[in-house]
Parts: sequence; structure tokens; C-alpha cells
Amino acid sequence: MNEPLPISQPTRLMVCTTCRAEGEPSQPAEARAGARLFNFLAAATAGDAGIELVGVECLSVCKRPCTVGLAAPGKWTYIYGDLPAETAGPIVLDAIKLYAAAPDGLIPWKLRVDAIKKGVVARLPPAPATPTLEPAR
Ligand code: FES
Repeated sequence: MNEPLPISQPTRLMVCTTCRAEGEPSQPAEARAGARLFNFLAAATAGDAGIELVGVECLSVCKRPCTVGLAAPGKWTYIYGDLPAETAGPIVLDAIKLYAAAPDGLIPWKLRVDAIKKGVVARLPPAPATPTLEPAR
């Protein structure tokens, strides 16, 4: 198991469980590449209150499997793709540590491994702590 992250501000790790690797035959959802990556990460982060693991059925990056997202209150949200199910688990775990250590969620470029540099799909600015729009009536 990995060293647990601080729990003051848990990092949400979203993993697409329905991603299929390129050329992967159609198979039950629980056998897909995304599900395999999710299962690895679930085992690796079990009991770590600093990580909130969430399985998601599609992050709309289907052509770049496997896909994960990192988010935390007050931080930038990142979406990464091109993560092979069988090898990306440790890479994702390292990225979470760097993300958790960054006050704004921006992982310094020089600390990013190639898979994280090349796999970035999008980053979104932090959501406001309180809604700034009038609620719909
Ligand atoms: S199926 Fe994984 S992003 Fe769409």
C-alpha cells in the first residue's frame, strides 16, 4: 500500500471504468481496461483517507483510454488519458502525491513523468467555493 496522503484536503481520483484499450475486444464492463485500472487503484488506495476514489462511466475521452481525473477543493482539475491499464497505476499514484502537495493543484512541469506530460487532456480552473450565479427559478 502507498503512504497515505494527508486527509485535510482529500484528492478526488476519478477513473473511467468503461474505457476499453485500443483493439480490446468487446467484453463485460468489469473486464475492461478502465475497470482493471480502477481495481488496481482501489486496492492501492484502500484505507487512504486522503484519496476519494470515484469510478465514473465515461469521462468523454473515449479515444484515449484509460482516462482519469484529479480534483480537490480550491485546486485545478486535471483530466489525463492514454494511461495503459496494466502499467499506469503507479504513475497515477505518483501524480496524486504531486497534486496533493501542490496548493493549487498545478504539478510543476519538471516533476511530471512523460505519461502525465503527454497524457493531459484538459485542466479546469478551481470551482468557486460559493456559487456566483443566481440559482435557476
Ligand atoms: S469510455 Fe472512458 S472516457 Fe469514455
